[in-house]
Amino acid sequence: MTTDEITDLLTEAYIDELETVMNYLTNAIVLDGVHAEEVKESLEDDVQEELEHARRLGNRLKQLEESPPGSEAFEASQSSLQPPEDTTDVQSVIEGVLEAEDEAIETYRALHEAASEANDPITEDVAVSILSDEEAHRTEFRGFQKEFPMD
Ligand SMILES: [Fe+2]
Ligand SMILES: [Fe+2]
Repeated sequence: MTTDEITDLLTEAYIDELETVMNYLTNAIVLDGVHAEEVKESLEDDVQEELEHARRLGNRLKQLEESPPGSEAFEASQSSLQPPEDTTDVQSVIEGVLEAEDEAIETYRALHEAASEANDPITEDVAVSILSDEEAHRTEFRGFQKEFPMD
């Protein structure tokens, strides 16, 4: 059985995924320098995965007889993922990605819990499967963070 909490979380997560797609795509384009190459490639790969997450969330909303939102419902929140003024500042992008992934992990944990409480195993499955991708993204960027320590 679905609840407002589930559809609200699915909608919020859908918007967050699309904001992540925009910011990862932008940063994959703007970063400069030899040290940036691996991070850019990783961001480029993640754009496809985050877009697929949005697709799965939108399809789940549709199955629950709700519509995923259009752009008028959009509210930006990822201030730390804005393209850096210094385009060789890979560290700031890494920190922004880690913040976004932590946020996503929190959202999917909440979605999993709400779905489990409401006895909605399909939404639970969507939450667990996306959660596993987000944890993998976080691990990868923690690795980059070690390579590019903050001062
Ligand atoms: Fe995602
Ligand atoms: Fe992610």
